Order: sequence, then structure tokens, then C-alpha cells
Amino acid sequence: MEKDTWNQTIHEIRSKLDIVQIISEYLPLVQKGKNFFGVCPFHDDTHPSMSVSREKQIYRCFSCGARGNVFTFVQEYEHLTFRDTLQKLSEKAGVPLQGFTYKKKDDKYEKYYQMYEITNKYFLNNLKTNQGKQAREYLHGRMITDDMIRDFGIGLSLDTSNDLVTLLSKKGYNLQELNDLGLATNNRDLYCNRIMFPLKDLSGRIVAFSGRRYDGIKENKYVNTKGTPIFQKGDILYNYYDARESVRKKNQVIVMEGFMAAIRSITIGLTNVVSLMGTAMTKEQVALLKRMSQNVILCFDGDEAGRKASISNGEELEKQGFQVKVAELSDDLDPDDYIIKKGKESFLSLIENAIPYRDYKIKSLKKGVDLNSNEEVSAYIDRVLQEASKISDEIRRELILKSLEKEFNIGYNTLEKRLLTYLDTQSKPKEEAPPVPIKPRVGKKDKYEIAERTLLYDMLMNQKARNHFERGELVFPTEQERFLASEIIYYYKIYGSLAAADFYTYLQDKKELLQLLDEVLELEIEEEFTEDRWNAYVRVVNEKNKNLEIERLKKTMKELNDPLEQAKIGERIRKLKMGS
Ligand code: UTP
Ligand code: MN
Repeated sequence: MEKDTWNQTIHEIRSKLDIVQIISEYLPLVQKGKNFFGVCPFHDDTHPSMSVSREKQIYRCFSCGARGNVFTFVQEYEHLTFRDTLQKLSEKAGVPLQGFTYKKKDDKYEKYYQMYEITNKYFLNNLKTNQGKQAREYLHGRMITDDMIRDFGIGLSLDTSNDLVTLLSKKGYNLQELNDLGLATNNRDLYCNRIMFPLKDLSGRIVAFSGRRYDGIKENKYVNTKGTPIFQKGDILYNYYDARESVRKKNQVIVMEGFMAAIRSITIGLTNVVSLMGTAMTKEQVALLKRMSQNVILCFDGDEAGRKASISNGEELEKQGFQVKVAELSDDLDPDDYIIKKGKESFLSLIENAIPYRDYKIKSLKKGVDLNSNEEVSAYIDRVLQEASKISDEIRRELILKSLEKEFNIGYNTLEKRLLTYLDTQSKPKEEAPPVPIKPRVGKKDKYEIAERTLLYDMLMNQKARNHFERGELVFPTEQERFLASEIIYYYKIYGSLAAADFYTYLQDKKELLQLLDEVLELEIEEEFTEDRWNAYVRVVNEKNKNLEIERLKKTMKELNDPLEQAKIGERIRKLKMGS
């Protein structure tokens, strides 16, 4: 495809999409003035340091410097190639990529994904055959309907054969690859007679399986795909990809232990749910949650392990700036059992009535305390006060004091005094979120830089400015500025118009220019182009050019040995200084 049509297509796709809306599909944005703000997904943060401009159709993180247009965002967020990003967004924008020869990048993972696709289809089919009868009965017995089997891609591996290895070998995949990808072990089928649950990566591609035995034996209940080049269990959350939309709408994510729990919740309409696939929560999973929502509800199994996980994971999430609530189950039930046993409404109300993490922790402190022992009671009260001191809401703190006062008949003042000692030892800044760094990180720019950037800005935005430039009135002092200026002129010559946001994609391989473009667009110039401003800044730039020339000459002069030549240069310097 011709480069021109190519850029025009890119422009067309981009202009049909609104960056604010697209980014909102990935993370919550809040409008402040003209711009929108959210927590930047490209670095570890809890504060909304990413600004998105609807007007300019670009985003920018003031903390880590991530920036770009709608293409760069989706590409970096989803870890796609540029072509895949284009493909995806062209569909979204409804702009066909006509004549666009889609050259598949030699993506080595592409093959792995295909192998998993084929494998999944094979498992799906097994479940439908005669050999799948017992597994189907098991699933139905667990209230997993045929609709659910279809929706969650549940399949079956067979133990009577080496069918998967045979199938994939026939298709040309080699045994080593099958072993490496966790589909085979010692060149034989790895999964034998298990119900297969596909696990998806962050982009929704199947990258692993969890296989459950259905013979009633508890040992090795699940077997998961080992770590492979495309899968690490701790790097994903079950249902992450499919939950994103619903999490965004509700601005809340429910975190569960098992993926069966997530599956059951989804079938009762609770779709903003993910599962850790165990009770341990990894750093990577915390980072994923951060991309989803600040508001987390933990709903772990109603056993001791689940309660412990609620405490430890809740503590960590609070530390990371999340608003955490806990929905507690009892009687050893997990969400799956609970919903089947007690019904949808009961479970929904349990989630609805989840309690703030700190209150949950305080409640849990009481377990096992001997209320007849003064020592134990006083130790308990002390720990409650320590926890209460971590609550920033004064009213909630007061409620806790009042309830202690009432329950143990201890003077309010005594309790408050103790609480105050803990409050003092709390690091204050942690209580309130630090102010949002809304101001761009403009290092002090001197008047020359401001002039240069403004002139480039005018050239981006205004035809008159470009005409001036083309008349040769202005030479930019740095090579990059000259380069950017000539790219702007070139782009207009070919396409007739230019949206600043398109330029990000146009310049995507020229990293230094992107940096400069960024600084130019950061200027937020309110006033329209005027000839006066142009001329004034051209004078400033020319002054800088002159100073640079003088410096260059001085240096040359020093290096010369011939006094006559030196005098000549001295004269030129004098003339330059006088302004001729
Ligand atoms: P659970 O033991 O709570 O499983 O483990 P579950 O979700 O209730 O499953 P069912 O109802 O018995 O079928 C929670 C999660 O821990 C992981 C799985 O990801 C499971 O979803 N797990 C559990 C394993 O990886 N291996 C195991 O042997 C057990
Ligand atoms: Mn279960």
C-alpha cells in the first residue's frame, strides 16, 4: 500500500474514534476541566497522573511520561503489534482496511496461540462425544449447564489415547514445542481424562488450561498448565479480559479464589468478577486490579484459608490505595456452593452488603478472645484501637469507640486517649491521597525554547505560519526542530490537513521527534495564531541563532594560529554582535 493512502487510512480510523471513550474501556477516567484523568496503567501508581485530552485526542502521563494517541494507548496496553492494533481499531471504527495487505509479523507466539486454539477445539469436541458422557453427567450434576459449557469453553481430555499429540503432530507442530507449551509431557498427552477449563491471557487468547478430575478423588483436583512463554499463572486473573467492560461500568471489581466461583457468579449476572485461582495474590495481579478499578470486593471461600486470605490480601490492597470491602461467606461454602444452596438473591445481597476491610479486620480480631479474661480483653481492645487508627473517616472511628464503650463499659475518654496515641504514630500523609499532580512537568524552559516550541506549534496548527516558514524566514537552531518542521511541511503537502494526534502515529519510529512533538503540544496555547507573535518569536530565535554562530566563531578563532585569519573572524563576530 502506498504510504499516502496508508496514513490517510490511519487518520480516518483515528478520527472516527474518541480517545476518551476508548481509554475509558480500559480504566476509569474522571473529567476535571477540559481534560480527563485516570491512573496511568503504564507504571506503578495509585494516583490519577494520566491526562487525556478530548480536544487534542492525545494522552499523557505526568509521572512516567507515557504519551500518544489512541493507537499507542491500545498498542501498549494490550501489548499488540502496530498492525494488530490497527486491525482492531479499524473494526471498532468501522473503517475497512481496504487494499491493506496484512503481512503477518513473524510473531513466534502466533503459532503457540494457534496450538492452543486447536487444542481447545479438540477438548470441546471430546465432551460432546460418547466418551464425554460421564463428564457431561458430572458437570450437569454440578449445575453446570450446556449453555455454561459453551460460554466458558469447557472441554474434556481423554485418557485412552495420545490423541492430542497425534493431532498436533499431524498438523506439523513438533513434539518439543508441545512439551514446552505444556500440552504434552515426555512426548505424550499431558492431560488425561480431565474436564478442561481454558484460561485466557490479558488479550482474551487461550494460553493455558486447568484440568479438573471428575472421579471424586480429591488429590490433584486441578492440574494447571506449567509456566510457558505465553503463560504464567500468577500473571493473570481468571476472567480479566471478559470482566473489563462490566468492571468499568460499575467501577468495582469482585475478587474470588476459584474460577468455578467466578463462572457461577457470571451466570447469575455478576460479571465484574475475577479469580486469583488460589488464595495467594501476586504483585502482578495487584497491578492488574489497579488497571481495573480502585474499588475491590474480596469474596473468598468461607473457610479458614479464605478468611486468612481476606485479611492478608485486603491489607495489601489497602496499602496500595484500593478501597477494599469484604463479603464473608460462612459454613465452608465457596461462592459456587453458596449460590446453588442459598440462591442468587441471597448472594447478591451478600455482595451488596460487603463491609469495609478495616471493619472486617476488627471483627475478626474478636474470634477466640476469652471475654472473661481481663488480659485478653484489654489486648483485644488495644488491637481494635490500632486498627481504628488506620481509618481516615472520623465518624467511623467514633462509631468504633462508642461500640467498645458500650460493650465493655470503658470510659469513652480512656479509649479516645489511647486511639490518639496510635493516630499520632500513623504517618499522616498516608491518610489522605496526595494531591493529583495535574500540572505538566515542565522543566523551566528559557525564552528561546518557548519561542521555538511556539513557532512549531503554530506550524502544526496554522497554514499562515507554514507559509512564513516556507518563505525561509526562520531556521530552527536544533536539528530535531528542523526535522520536525520539515515533517510538518511534508505532511501537509501530501495530505492537505493534519490532526496533531495523527502525527504520533506518523512519527512513531522517530522517538526523539515524538519527545519534541510532545513538548510542543504540551504548550496549551490559548490564543490564535497572530503575525505579531510569529514575528516576535522569529526575532527571538534569530537572536539565538546569532549567539550560537558567535560562539562557533569564537571557538574557531581560538583554534586558529594565523593572526590575520583570527582578525577576520573577530571582525565577523563584531559585526554579528552589532546586528548586521
Ligand atoms: P478450590 O479448591 O476452592 O476449588 O480452589 P473450587 O473453585 O471450589 O473448585 P471445585 O468447586 O472443587 O471444582 C480454588 C482455586 O485454586 C486452584 C484452582 O485455580 C481453583 O480454582 N487450585 C485448587 C489448583 O490450582 N489446584 C488444586 O488442586 C486446587
Ligand atoms: Mn467449589
